[in-house]
Amino acid sequence: MDDSQRVSILSEALPYIQSFSGRKIVIKYGGSVMNHNILRDAVFRDIALLSIVGVRPVIVHGGGPEINIWLKKLNIEPKFENGLRVTNEKTMEIVEMVLMGRVNKKIVQGINKTGASAIGISGLDGNLIKARELASKSHGLVGDISKINSKILDPIIENGHIPVISSIGSSKEGVNLNINADYVAGEVAASINAEKLILLTDTPGILKDKKDHNSLMKQINLKEARKCIEENIISDGMKPKTECCIRALAQGIKAAHIIDGRIEHALLLEIFTNAGIGTMINA
Ligand SMILES: Nc1ncnc2c1ncn2[C@@H]1O[C@H](COP(=O)(O)OP(=O)(O)OP(=O)(O)O)[C@@H](O)[C@H]1O
Ligand SMILES: [Mg+2]
Repeated sequence: MDDSQRVSILSEALPYIQSFSGRKIVIKYGGSVMNHNILRDAVFRDIALLSIVGVRPVIVHGGGPEINIWLKKLNIEPKFENGLRVTNEKTMEIVEMVLMGRVNKKIVQGINKTGASAIGISGLDGNLIKARELASKSHGLVGDISKINSKILDPIIENGHIPVISSIGSSKEGVNLNINADYVAGEVAASINAEKLILLTDTPGILKDKKDHNSLMKQINLKEARKCIEENIISDGMKPKTECCIRALAQGIKAAHIIDGRIEHALLLEIFTNAGIGTMINA
């Protein structure tokens, strides 16, 4: 690429930079895309770039694969039902250690290394996430969100820092609960009035046929999304992801995107180009 191409690309991005400047974008960084070193650094650089051009990114992270590695070291078999982890007390200890200890700090460190400033918090800090056990009690210490106390995020965001949130909340009774990070991202997006919700994961987006990577659904509305869940076209980890988009859109978020975190600079492609990538769910 010569200098004039480089300058023209920068110039083309200007309208997007202007329209998103000062706006909040919630990014769910899926555990499924954290393993690749080069990609991980690219994601951190993209987040830093967004922050430096005036966008206000808020990160919510998962950590499924890393939790599974630590469970296996302790001879505990991971168990999922309906895309949610069945979480007994022993599993919860590991979930807490891995998410709030290892994964959160790795992301904070990775973003800070780029020159931006990230602050790691969990849903416990400042009572950010109040939760209750699932009504069905089917998954043990798994929670549904009852309230996001987004006030504690405001000063962090306003001072130019990037919040990095682990998806653990606490109940009224003071019991810590494991919450699917997709749900946290959706509710945080709604509560801070974010411009966009972007979920980075390990597939091209929502596929019509899970085995066919060419069957990407580029754009679907709420009704179609619900139908895909009913018909089991969307299952496993994609189910909470789609549900969180539906809830966020119902609460006034304009657009929710499920995109492939394995593509280098997926975030910039989504935010700063006309075509975008992955699946956009709109209201
Ligand atoms: N229709 C569908 N299209 C695409 N993926 C689907 C579909 N239905 C189910 N899936 C599954 O959903 C998975 C993505 O959810 P998963 O929970 O595994 O990742 P994640 O949320 O990014 O990671 P983490 O839960 O650790 O944060 C895909 O890898 C795929 O196996
Ligand atoms: Mg998931």
